[in-house]
Amino acid sequence: MKAVVCVEHGPPEKLVVKDVPTPEPGRGQVRLKVEAAGVNFPDTLIIQNLYQFKPPLPFTPGGEAAGTIDAVGEGVEGVAVGDRAVVMTGNGCFAEYVIANRAQVVPIPAAMPSDVAAGFIMTYGTSHHALKQRARLQPGETLLVLGAAGGVGLTAVELGKVMGAKVIAAASTDEKLALTRDYGADETINYTDANLKDEIKRLTGGKGPDVIYDPVGDRFAEPAFRSIGWNGRYLIVGFAGGNIPSLPLNLPLIKGASLVGVFWGAFTQAEPAVHRANMAELLEWYGAGRLRPHVSKRFPLSEGPAAIRWMMDRKATGKVVLTA
Ligand SMILES: NC(=O)c1ccc[n+]([C@@H]2O[C@H](COP(=O)([O-])OP(=O)(O)OC[C@H]3O[C@@H](n4cnc5c(N)ncnc54)[C@H](OP(=O)(O)O)[C@@H]3O)[C@@H](O)[C@H]2O)c1
Repeated sequence: MKAVVCVEHGPPEKLVVKDVPTPEPGRGQVRLKVEAAGVNFPDTLIIQNLYQFKPPLPFTPGGEAAGTIDAVGEGVEGVAVGDRAVVMTGNGCFAEYVIANRAQVVPIPAAMPSDVAAGFIMTYGTSHHALKQRARLQPGETLLVLGAAGGVGLTAVELGKVMGAKVIAAASTDEKLALTRDYGADETINYTDANLKDEIKRLTGGKGPDVIYDPVGDRFAEPAFRSIGWNGRYLIVGFAGGNIPSLPLNLPLIKGASLVGVFWGAFTQAEPAVHRANMAELLEWYGAGRLRPHVSKRFPLSEGPAAIRWMMDRKATGKVVLTA
């Protein structure tokens, strides 16, 4: 089979696309024939050995794929050959076939296209868990989303609206902000030009947002936190901007505000029943047409390295996927 292989750590240009043996599922595992694989920010880090999980070389990147189960190992229950599914494996998905443990398999509705499914579970799953369980976002509250046109950011905008919030979207270009408007953002901030803290204050009448969703970190976190409202919840989602920022601890004190960590992958392991209920709710909303997953670009598997480069260069909006 064809696979994108990381033979030495480094930028995407060091990846090679080559033929490797097709893997066989072991006990408790399934094999998925990959139709589409989602590109996620951790893929940009894992190939550079900068991610918390460090698979031994050589390895195939790609944490999320959709397709059809084509082989099942011993002892697997509840899924069968021919089932359509998404698998969340951490790596191995930028290939024609991938092996997944049974627990990493999420069945998908027959009507969900593979390229949509390949980018759905992690992005929507993260934002839904963040807004629902971690922030307890309430109808009528104000939600500020940073990096709002990105993979997880755009889903936070969309889910914020579904959950009845007023949404302020912040991103780096007017094109990205136009996309967030299309997904329901009530107000926008271009944080390349604007004074972020002043703009947030202006758009909230001085009160500040109730919830801030931050997948970017870096230089945006402190001015954003300084603008948060009383009883605010600041969701720490990721650090796509590069630096992990520090915050003076007097700030949460004077705002009566909370810093709230979000780690969706660990949540799915620690609270599987809540995770399943979340997924059921998201798939119900999708089935009812309340969510419109945005796949902005598709690359063939052979151009997997270019897809990762596209994301690293901040060109991606919504989801980027590799297609078989
Ligand atoms: N905590 C969790 O459970 C969890 C789950 C999924 C993802 N994440 C994290 O969330 C973050 C975003 O993931 P994603 O898949 O949404 O990525 P993405 O699609 O690339 O979006 C990231 C956004 O960050 C902004 N950004 C600012 N500086 C950047 C830089 N130097 N390089 C790249 N982007 C930059 C970009 O928006 P602008 O150009 O508008 O600034 C971009 O749209 C990552 O750190 C990821 O690891 C965390």
